[in-house]
Amino acid sequence: MSDLNGKVAIVTGAASGIGAATARTLVARGARVVVTDIDDERGADVADELGDRAVYQHTDVCREGDVESAVALATGWFGRLDCMVNNAGRVGRWTFLEDTDADEWDDAFATLARSVFFGIKHAARVMRDQGSGSIVNVSSVAAVRTGFGPHPYSAAKAAVLQLTRTAASELAEYRIRVNSVVPGGVATRIVGHGAGLSGDDLDQSVDAIRQGLHRFQPLPRAGEAEDLAHAIAFLASDDSSFVTGQDIGVDGGLTLGRKWPANYLAEAQAASTRVQN
Ligand SMILES: NC(=O)c1ccc[n+]([C@@H]2O[C@H](COP(=O)([O-])OP(=O)(O)OC[C@H]3O[C@@H](n4cnc5c(N)ncnc54)[C@H](O)[C@@H]3O)[C@@H](O)[C@H]2O)c1
Repeated sequence: MSDLNGKVAIVTGAASGIGAATARTLVARGARVVVTDIDDERGADVADELGDRAVYQHTDVCREGDVESAVALATGWFGRLDCMVNNAGRVGRWTFLEDTDADEWDDAFATLARSVFFGIKHAARVMRDQGSGSIVNVSSVAAVRTGFGPHPYSAAKAAVLQLTRTAASELAEYRIRVNSVVPGGVATRIVGHGAGLSGDDLDQSVDAIRQGLHRFQPLPRAGEAEDLAHAIAFLASDDSSFVTGQDIGVDGGLTLGRKWPANYLAEAQAASTRVQN
């Protein structure tokens, strides 16, 4: 598959999880990618693995100058920018409202929402001159349902969805598309990181998360980073050239509603049969 031949992308938070899978998928489909993160060791490893179709740059998405520099690197190194993937994130601690301080609120919004504003703002400048571009923002099921993330995280991810719509509306004129993907439960390091794990413990937490997510949503398996990468690659490609301002759920059916009652009944009957035998 080479539907992204000739395209140039930036992926934020690409040292791990969804961002790393996205960088790999975009390159496999023919794109060249600026891999960015604050985890320089892992980020440089991802870029090295991808060879001369990728380059790593330290980019803290909380800093506007860093995001602007990543865009400058894409145009300086590869000559253009076709796709900006605003993906970097962290989940934060689960606290009661009264124990959530203003610093945590501000940091969540800086990392998860203001960062997306920076990405759109600086990518759109280049894309407007080109007359084309696709911006993909990574939101969360926590933006549309409760109980999937702390208060600041959920509110910031909801802000990403509405910024996606307002930006899509303004930028359509220049044939720049702006969409969000809305992941459900995905087996990555984000939960372990939020729990304070590091090193091998953090890496090993991914498999434990994968097991835990098996029955988290109607489709009976955990979400994988590649599931998001494939949706992002579609939005980056010309196959989605008439799609803008949308939230694309990639959640195994998590947001569909209550579990289907007949499935509860079948499970209860199977459990009762096991007890009788
Ligand atoms: N994994 C899930 O279940 C899930 C669900 C919904 C949404 N998401 C979202 O998906 C995105 C990717 O998360 P993931 O699951 O791949 O997690 P991950 O922890 O594997 O990767 C996140 C990456 O973002 C980087 N990062 C954090 N703060 C940064 C900053 N200030 N500047 C630059 N990079 C920074 C980290 O270093 C890390 O490499 C996040 O926005 C997250 O909120 C994940």
